[in-house]
Amino acid sequence: MPATVIVGAQWGDEGKGKIADLLAQHADVVCRYQGGPNAGHTIVRDGETFALHQIPSGILHPGTSCVIGAGCVLDPAQVLREIDELETRGISTRDLSISGNAHLIMPWHVAIDAASERRLGKLQIGTTRRGIGPAYADKASRLGIRVQDLLDAKILRQKIEIALDEKNLLLERVHEMPPIELGELAASMEDLAARLRPYVADTSLLVDRALRQGKRVLLEGAQGTLLDLDHGTYPFVTSSNPIAAAAATGIGIGPTRIDEVVGVAKAYVTRVGEGPFPTEIDGPDHARVRELGHEYGTTTGRERRCGWLDLVGLRFAVRVNGITSLVLTKLDVLSTFAELPVCVAYSLPDGTTAEEFPAHQSDFHHARPVYETLPGWEAPLDAVSGPDELPAAARRYVEFVEERLEIPVSLVGTGADRARVLARHALAALPLVA
Ligand code: IMP
Repeated sequence: MPATVIVGAQWGDEGKGKIADLLAQHADVVCRYQGGPNAGHTIVRDGETFALHQIPSGILHPGTSCVIGAGCVLDPAQVLREIDELETRGISTRDLSISGNAHLIMPWHVAIDAASERRLGKLQIGTTRRGIGPAYADKASRLGIRVQDLLDAKILRQKIEIALDEKNLLLERVHEMPPIELGELAASMEDLAARLRPYVADTSLLVDRALRQGKRVLLEGAQGTLLDLDHGTYPFVTSSNPIAAAAATGIGIGPTRIDEVVGVAKAYVTRVGEGPFPTEIDGPDHARVRELGHEYGTTTGRERRCGWLDLVGLRFAVRVNGITSLVLTKLDVLSTFAELPVCVAYSLPDGTTAEEFPAHQSDFHHARPVYETLPGWEAPLDAVSGPDELPAAARRYVEFVEERLEIPVSLVGTGADRARVLARHALAALPLVA
């Protein structure tokens, strides 16, 4: 039985939540392997809307176990808000397990995230201000507080006290912010801890056992390839590794356990936050794509920057993730355009043209897109119920991506509704499609 990774192939917001939700119908275990409440997906189920940031959408499927892995950072108050919302709407969270090795986002992380961005001014990263970077920084510095510290009230208080010694200095002296009071924080953390304890588990063992028992496991990444800390457009990246290989470390299974890597990309590109973006649209089509695609952040409400499809970036994503099959979402958003530019290469400052993603930041910052323009289909896709019913130009658009990237496009999204996904090729994780 397969372990399948779902990974964002662009700068996040590719529609992974919807695809994960679709594949989760056939999964026994759904795991998040990195990131924290900087992610967000909205799932519409039987007319009800669920906004999830940390809990995998698999939670909405009765009988599916959900895991928040060691590679994640967890905001305890936020995760409890999500648990409460699910429970009050009749959705059980009994099958949710949280790794004791995941790190906690503490109030100082959120405060420092915002303060550092303010200090950076024009050079800011444009973070979600959820404390992600500072929490991962403390993890790497071995100063972090982990989920398993919630299991012992004495240890928890001690760790908070040690951390506050330094963090309050930083808050007061560097960021000119009020200090955090130990007693108040320790008491509120103890309340959160008491509620979170039942969810703490050895999730590496849980996933290993599930795989040994032949269960289907989905490993869901947050954000996207170009936001990867090591391989993305540093420093305009997140502080974890969204790429597929991180699913193994983030959960605690070996890389040999992963059978399939499904990359999810929009039929165009969006980016939130700062940083270079070669195919960003200049002119009125920008607002057109943004409005048609409802391109506003789920977590922050920010306007997303919009661009034409970038095959250089996608070729890179195929490479660094080992993508075995691509899902192209939101094809319907392009339905009113007469012509569709697709970036097939970058023109670089030294006068050369490259089909591979630049290895160095200066080349990427100055890269200019080389477009091939494909005809649009100028017809709605609402009534399309199978891939063969797509207008010829829409089929061509999808086939163009397949030809240039040399991998199959297995699924195509044609609308917000869960049913509006056309299956072109089988996936190990989607057995009903043949
Ligand atoms: P952070 O992850 O909050 O530190 O933000 C770092 C960068 O990643 C910023 O450009 C954010 O806009 C971006 N980012 C973080 N999470 C997401 C996401 O879920 N979708 C898209 N961009 C994200």
